[in-house]
Formats: sequence, structure tokens, C-alpha cells
Amino acid sequence: MTADRLSDIGACAFDAYGTMFDVHSAVARGGAALGDKAAAVSGLWRQKQLEYSWLRTLMGSHADFWQVTCDALDYAFEFHGVSDGALRDQLLELYRRLDAYDDVADCLRKLRGAGLTTAILSNAEPAMLAAAVDSAGIAELLDAVLSAETIAIYKPDSRVYQIAIDELGLPRERICFVSNNAWDTAGAAHFGFPVARLNRGGVPAERLPGTPVAVMGGLSELPGLLGID
Ligand code: LAC
Repeated sequence: MTADRLSDIGACAFDAYGTMFDVHSAVARGGAALGDKAAAVSGLWRQKQLEYSWLRTLMGSHADFWQVTCDALDYAFEFHGVSDGALRDQLLELYRRLDAYDDVADCLRKLRGAGLTTAILSNAEPAMLAAAVDSAGIAELLDAVLSAETIAIYKPDSRVYQIAIDELGLPRERICFVSNNAWDTAGAAHFGFPVARLNRGGVPAERLPGTPVAVMGGLSELPGLLGID
């Protein structure tokens, strides 16, 4: 990492799903009936959710992230031969209050304590984000919860990253973008944010333009990268 590019950061903008909230916790908590298909259903659900968001932006046919999340679950169920309306509803209900990763609250607290602005910048629509933030108990640790829904376009389109600049009132070089989704860190770095890529799973970087300044194994490393003790 090149530490000078993470100096003078005034705000951290975090991706939500996969970064703060564990997208697989819905199936982990409520998917016992899926048996040995549970991990595959959860993985395909997430994969299709992302694909549908990107494809809808490319097609110019927007639907909000809740609709995309429902459509993706329906695809994953049908692909795996699952037909259980009550289970579908239960998983969707659980998706509105996913587990937050253990390192989230402490990290936000440290950033706030050092005077940094904290924000979410997510593709999810505001009601989904509000439910997740509330159930994780981190609302008071966030200065802003920003949603791509306000422009009906999804990351990694650069117009979504621009929302953080417009709303946080800081130049792009003072906004550190943090995501566990490598496609998102590529998009944000390509846009020009100094990016701290979270890599909880130790997966390879995407072969896409946009290089992060730093890579972290967990959010507990972020305060140190920003020069906060
Ligand atoms: C987010 C996703 C899609 O923007 O991870 O929160």
C-alpha cells in the first residue's frame, strides 16, 4: 500500500451487502429446510442479485434492489428445484435484518471518534438499508446512508460513486471507499476514490481496471490504514 494516498481522508463510504452485512446469514439462519442445497442456493441468490442489478442498468430497465433480490431468490429456488412459498417469505424477511459482521461497529466508532464522516453507499434501496442498519444497531454510528436508488442506476456505474461526493461535500481524494466486493472496489478506484479493499474471503482481485490503495483482511485494519490509533 502507499500510505500517502490514504492520508487526509475526511470520510469513509462503505458498501453495505457483503461488507457490513453478511448476505449468507439469511440462509444460515432460516434455510435449514434447504438441506445440502443451502450453500448453493445462497450463493446463486447473491450471484443473480448482482447480475440482475448490473444487467438492468445496462438495459436501462431499472427495478429497485428489493425487487432484484426477490427475483434472484426466485431464480435460485427454481434452479435448485425448490418450491416452498413460506420458506421464500421467511428468507426474504431474514434478508431485511442480516447479521452485521463483528468488526463493523467498532470500526465505525473509531472513525467517528477521530472526526471522520461515516457513510454507506449502496445499491440497495433506502427501506432495505434502513431495516438492515437498524437491526444491526449501527444507525447512530453513520452520518449518511446513501442509496443508488436516488438515481435508479447501480454501481459500478460512476454516477453512483458521484453521489458520495455530492452528498458528503468532500473532494473524491478525501473519500475512502471500502467494499468487500472486488467489482465494487474496482469501480470505485476507477472512478478515482482512494479505495481500501476488504477481502474477508481471501479471493483474487478481479481482472478489471481500478486498483485499490490497500487490501485488508478485516475492518479492524481500517483505522490503522487511516492513521488512527
Ligand atoms: C451494495 C451491494 C450490492 O451496494 O453489495 O451494498
